[in-house]
Amino acid sequence: MTWVVALCLGLLLPLGHSKTVHIYVSPKGSDGNSGLDAAHPVATLDKARQLLDSSGIKDNTVYVELMGGYHNLQSTLHFTHAYSQPVTFRAYKDQEVHVTGGKQISANLFTKVTDTDALKMLPSNVISKVVQVHLPSAGITDYGTMSKFGTYYSRTSWLEIFINGEPARLAQFPNDIFLNIVSVPLGQHGKTFTYKTPEDSKWAHEKEPWGYGYWMYSWSDDATKIGHLDTQKHQMTIVNETNYGLRVGHYNPIHLAYADNQGGYFRMINMLSELDLPGEFFLDRSNGNLYIWPNTKTGTLASSDIITVSLIDDCISMDPGVNNLNFEGFTLEACRRNGITGNGLNNINVQNMDIKNLGSYGVDIRASSNITVSRCDIHYTNGGVSLYGGDRITLTPSSNVVEDNHIWMFARVGGTGYNAITIDGVGNVARYNHLHDGQYTGLMWRGNDNIMEYNHIHHMCVNSTDCGGVHSGRDWAARGNVIRYNHIHHVIKRMPGAENRGIMLDDMYSSVLIEHNVFYKNQYHVNIGGGRDNIVRHNVFYDAVDFPLNVDFRGILYNTTGGNLYAKLATVPYKTKLWSERYPKLAVIDSNHPMYPMGNLIYENAFYNKRGPGIVQFHGNGLEKKEYYDIYDNFKASPADFWSPSEHDYRFRCSAETWAKQNSFPQPIDINAIGPRQPTGPKYMQKAIQQYHSTSHPASCSGSIIG
Ligand SMILES: *[C@@H]1O[C@H](CO)[C@@H](O)[C@H](O)[C@H]1NC(C)=O
Ligand SMILES: *[C@@H]1O[C@H](CO)[C@@H](O)[C@H](O)[C@H]1NC(C)=O
Ligand SMILES: *[C@@H]1O[C@H](CO)[C@@H](O)[C@H](O)[C@H]1NC(C)=O
Ligand SMILES: *[C@@H]1O[C@H](CO)[C@@H](O)[C@H](O)[C@H]1NC(C)=O
Repeated sequence: MTWVVALCLGLLLPLGHSKTVHIYVSPKGSDGNSGLDAAHPVATLDKARQLLDSSGIKDNTVYVELMGGYHNLQSTLHFTHAYSQPVTFRAYKDQEVHVTGGKQISANLFTKVTDTDALKMLPSNVISKVVQVHLPSAGITDYGTMSKFGTYYSRTSWLEIFINGEPARLAQFPNDIFLNIVSVPLGQHGKTFTYKTPEDSKWAHEKEPWGYGYWMYSWSDDATKIGHLDTQKHQMTIVNETNYGLRVGHYNPIHLAYADNQGGYFRMINMLSELDLPGEFFLDRSNGNLYIWPNTKTGTLASSDIITVSLIDDCISMDPGVNNLNFEGFTLEACRRNGITGNGLNNINVQNMDIKNLGSYGVDIRASSNITVSRCDIHYTNGGVSLYGGDRITLTPSSNVVEDNHIWMFARVGGTGYNAITIDGVGNVARYNHLHDGQYTGLMWRGNDNIMEYNHIHHMCVNSTDCGGVHSGRDWAARGNVIRYNHIHHVIKRMPGAENRGIMLDDMYSSVLIEHNVFYKNQYHVNIGGGRDNIVRHNVFYDAVDFPLNVDFRGILYNTTGGNLYAKLATVPYKTKLWSERYPKLAVIDSNHPMYPMGNLIYENAFYNKRGPGIVQFHGNGLEKKEYYDIYDNFKASPADFWSPSEHDYRFRCSAETWAKQNSFPQPIDINAIGPRQPTGPKYMQKAIQQYHSTSHPASCSGSIIG
């Protein structure tokens, strides 16, 4: 009986009968059109979304063809249910398509500054450069509000402005550095502090001054409204306490690398009197006047400049249960919150997109499976891609993949906790990505059995300390993770505070396998912060600013994270058959000195370091025990043992090659074998790049697009 039913269902299922439908959307279209041919496009993505449920379209494979131009979303494009067949929103015929969460303002609405109060406040030497626009005259009245940001804080931005795709920033002082807190008369939690600068004589009439900085620790940034400003006493009081309070600062912009003191420095933001650079703006919420020094090549605005302001929160969101959706080949920009977000999803693909100019993450998807983000350009956001999926109790993998993406300048407004990539859960993969220019961490992982490989990661932690280019912490049970075949470099320290590391295993992080990576020019390449069962082998450690590795036993010294760690351990069934077979060392942790750095192995790595003969720096005495850190058979190389360090080619020759052969250590990975395997971003941008290259070097550049 059952098989008869199954057979009949098989015949009746729409699969065989499913056809392919195209729905056309053009900014020049009309939502009254059918949308079913290119001559009759609908006008909005939301109308196309509604059509997906209509008869004749529902249950078919659908391509929503976005035709060239600016598609401004009136509200979040919101998907509420599953699709039985794939639905793809894509750029029609590779045309230049921008989907924005905002609106364009015509350049001719901008005038010279006329507001008399503003004229008094603006620096006199920039008055001729700054232009103003009365937003209500452009039909814009939702300015958003200034609000807290920094240190993992999930934020919604205020109205921002972008010219030709380049973000402007709130006018600030100082422009690039910070001011120290000079005293905290009411103590760490007293909300009042003094500072020293004559600049404050300009600030008395500021309407909405905010402070942004690393007020207490150089790994925690925060923003707060200034309540009271006394320019006579050079003293101010903040409205809300910052993350950890206030302290006197020792920031020194000239001797950055050697300042060890934490935090205590800030800058003023949202200051009309400090609008003194191209690309700075100020919005007066009391009258809707926005002032900006245009960040165009000429410093002025022409009718050809595309000026966009952000209006809606998330660009695209998906409710639990949504599946089979693809987004491909267009630019998604100018939303106040995330680009693409949702939870409880399955089978969502985001491919060849340009995702930028957002208030929060480019892609933030939780509790989901079969999510792929590939070949995207993601930049000028506050966080790149965050994927969380898989089940830790049953160790079921999510099959989520982040691959072949180019992600840079991904912490645009805030600093710490807005990572290029965050993967969390079980069985997530981050591979072949190029991640660079981060204020804090590039790649952060949590959970089990995640793989991070063939990524090119560099220039991370540039505006913060106690940071890892690749970073995790505080979990004994996060087992089965692998970091291999990556190039990690230029994670150095430019700010006060604790060390920066290529890979940082913070506060007792345990059991990751770090192998076949190539490291160079990091302050420390790898750090083990008191955790256990970590394996570091078959890596190249070239020229650290300090040591290749540093390790400690903070669990024994402080026992501070004890409570947290035990509580986390209790959330996973580490003694069951499933877990104990997979992670035998974790199963016996209770009887094997949980707070001790047991079972770490550091072997068969090749290292060259100008400073010091050793591969490992120990923080603390009594650490050099084999049961804590077993360090053996590491090869001390010289620059001549590598093909070409100046070109970042660390493959072995000479005695290193002989040593490697003896140890069956494969050649270190070629830098050309890491990072994106395919061109990233929308086709229209790839073509523009190709054209640029072919006109600048006609004969020599054939084939390769990214060169
Ligand atoms: C201060 O904190 C309160 C409570 O968290 C919050 O509601 C308020 O918006 C904050 N004020 C500012 C200016 O951020
Ligand atoms: C993910 O995709 C695979 C292959 O299509 C499928 O077998 C699996 O069930 C999917 N995962 C979930 C949770 O639906
Ligand atoms: C670091 O901070 C400086 C000063 O605010 C800023 O100009 C720069 O863009 C930041 N770097 C990154 C990688 O975000
Ligand atoms: C360490 O902390 C844990 C949890 O707070 C506690 O149970 C344990 O007794 C502490 N160990 C020492 C040596 O103080």
